[in-house]
This record gives sequence, structure tokens and C-alpha cells, in this order.
Amino acid sequence: MIRIPVALPMDSYDIRIDEGGLERLGEYLAELGKVNRALVVSNPVVLRHYGARVVRSLNAAGFETASVTVPAGERHKHLRSVERIYQAALEHRLERSSLLVALGGGVVGDMAGFAASTWLRGIRVAQVPTTLLAMVDAAIGGKTGVNHPVGKNLIGTFHQPCLVLIDPQVLGTLPPRETRAAMAEVIKYGIIWDADLFKRLEQLPSLQRPDSRTLTTLLVRSCQTKAEVVVRDEREGGLRAILNYGHTVGHALESATAYRRYLHGEGVALGMVAAGRVAAAMDLWSPEAAHRQEALIAKARLPVRWKCDIVTDALLLHMQSDKKVESGKVRFVLPEAIGRVRTGVGVPTEVLRRVLDALHG
Ligand SMILES: NC(=O)c1ccc[n+]([C@@H]2O[C@H](COP(=O)([O-])OP(=O)(O)OC[C@H]3O[C@@H](n4cnc5c(N)ncnc54)[C@H](O)[C@@H]3O)[C@@H](O)[C@H]2O)c1
Ligand SMILES: [Zn+2]
Repeated sequence: MIRIPVALPMDSYDIRIDEGGLERLGEYLAELGKVNRALVVSNPVVLRHYGARVVRSLNAAGFETASVTVPAGERHKHLRSVERIYQAALEHRLERSSLLVALGGGVVGDMAGFAASTWLRGIRVAQVPTTLLAMVDAAIGGKTGVNHPVGKNLIGTFHQPCLVLIDPQVLGTLPPRETRAAMAEVIKYGIIWDADLFKRLEQLPSLQRPDSRTLTTLLVRSCQTKAEVVVRDEREGGLRAILNYGHTVGHALESATAYRRYLHGEGVALGMVAAGRVAAAMDLWSPEAAHRQEALIAKARLPVRWKCDIVTDALLLHMQSDKKVESGKVRFVLPEAIGRVRTGVGVPTEVLRRVLDALHG
């Protein structure tokens, strides 16, 4: 088992990467002190695969355990789904000392985290990510939330988990498209923080099916980066904004297509291509570096163009309602070198428009 501490002043916790660790979840949670009841929050697919294992482990450790599902998919990441969790919390008589277990991808994790942070003004949540994206990103750092029809993640809280348990075995059932999408966030860490990781990814013969040793390395490097950034800036006062690299255009694409066309990671891949080109157009980094980034994204079999039915004006409009707008100007995270980005860069609309127009496939 590999343990990566997230050493926050108020809420320190561990990320544990543990092959077969689902069986030990109850044991790990019992170490954290008195908990009477646990409510497993999942979706029907994940619960069918892994619910029994998790519930067995929790029961064996002495937790009174129940489970609730929310519908799968980004489209269902809204307050009505969170209400189902509240209803189950009520029925299962959760108390301040009880615990939610988020068993699923980022959608489940964000909603279970949000429910935990608001139920009885805050109960504990353990994140047990089952997608690669949630393992390397969403489960760590305490951002929770749901979408509003007007924009993604507009409603949310900061609420750190008490444990993040990553069991790489569960990736065996994850659809390959989901694994590919998650690679976008791994590539993101290479650009924003870890040039060595970026080079390693370039050197791998393929990013499709990393063997278990390579996968562990990618998990460890990604979790370390996310943990380090979060520890330095828990509430996104500054540094943490670097994690939004690729997300400005990415969110606009997801939102402009009603969260139906792109997986989150695919949006991020396209958003990084756009941001890389904007940075090159503004002479912040070299066209060669932008090209290396695009080549790596393409190697991960992620999209580097979008279809022409997505209108540039619609994207610009969606960016206006994004959280990253300050005094009406869209602010970007832009790369200066592989391994280093600059935040809060105002981009002239003409430059942005030109880049977006050129990315129509
Ligand atoms: N809180 C944060 O800091 C943060 C960071 C990044 C992303 N996010 C959020 O995460 C969400 C995306 O998360 P995601 O990519 O994990 O998508 P997801 O949660 O929608 O999961 C993807 C699909 O995979 C299925 N699935 C999950 N695990 C599986 C498994 N082991 N086997 C088979 N199928 C499985 C799910 O049923 C779902 O259909 C977005 O809403 C995004 O905003 C949050
Ligand atoms: Zn993301």
C-alpha cells in the first residue's frame, strides 16, 4: 500500500493506493475513530460491480451500513440527485458521527461530498474513486458540487474527505473511453507542474493500456501533484487555480453540448489544445511546445478538434458565465513552459476567437 499524505492544517488525511483495497475499506475507516453508521453513495453500475464488497467490508468493521444510488452521468449532477442522498441519510438516521462513502466516479464523489458537507452542517465523507479521473483528480482536494442549468459546478462547497482509497483493481471494468479521458488530467499535471511526468508520458509506447507498474507511477505522480497544490492553497486563493488549466474552453464545450457529447476529460483535452494555441499566439510559450502538447493528447487518442456545429459565439457566451470570469473578462491559465503555467491571464477576444475558429474540425 502506498500512502500519500494530504497535510492540511485542519483536515489532514491520507490518499491510499492499495491493490484490492476495497476489502480493507472498513478496517481503514475504523482507524479514524468512532463512526456508528455509514451510507454508501454510488450509482447503479458501480454498486452492482463493487457494492457488495464495500458493504461487506464496512459491516465486518462494525458499521451499520446502507446504500443509496444516484443516476449515472454528468446530466444528473444536480440538486435533485443530492436530495435522494438526503432522503437516504434521513431514513438511515445518520448522525454527526456517521459517514458517507462515495463509491464511484467524479459525479458521485462531487455529489456525495456536497451532501456530506451540508447534512447536519457537515459529516465525514470517504472518497473511494472508481474511475481513473476521480482517482487522479476529483476525489482529492475537497471541492464538492453540482451543476446549475446555467453552468457547471456553480453550486458547491469545500469539504475535505477523511480518506481517499484508490483500489486500481476496479479500473478493470471501466470503459476504455473513460480511461482515455482521464489521461487528459494526467497530461494536465505534466503541463502545469511536473515536466518529468510529461516526458515520461511522451516516452511510453502507448497511453491506452498502461501496465500495472506504469499505472501506479501515474497514479502516484498525479495524486502527489494534486495533494501538493491543494496543501499550498486549499481554497483557491491563488496557486490552486493552475488546476483549471484547459477547463475554461473545456467547460464551455461540455456546457454548449449539454454535457452529452464530451466526457469531462475530453473537454479538458480540447481546452488544453485551445489554451496552448492561445499561449503560443500571445508569445507566452513556443509553438513547438504547443505542438508537443497536441501530439501527446493525440497519442492518448483524445480529441484535438471539435465539429463545426459548435459555434464560436456560443462558446464565448458560455465562457462569460464561467466562474473564471472577473470583471467581465475571461481569464485563462496559460502555459509558459512544459511544467509551468501562469494564471489569470486576460486574453483579447480577437485572439481567442481566431484560435477557436481554427479548431473547428
Ligand atoms: N471535485 C473536483 O475537484 C473535481 C475534479 C475533476 C473533476 N470533477 C468532476 O468529476 C466529474 C467527472 O468524473 P468521472 O470522469 O469520474 O465521470 P463519472 O463519475 O460520470 O463516471 C464515468 C462513468 O463511469 C462509470 N463507472 C465508474 N466507475 C466504474 C468502474 N469501475 N467500472 C465501470 N464503470 C464505472 C460510471 O457509472 C459513469 O457512467 C465531473 O462532474 C467533474 O466536474 C471534480
Ligand atoms: Zn477536470
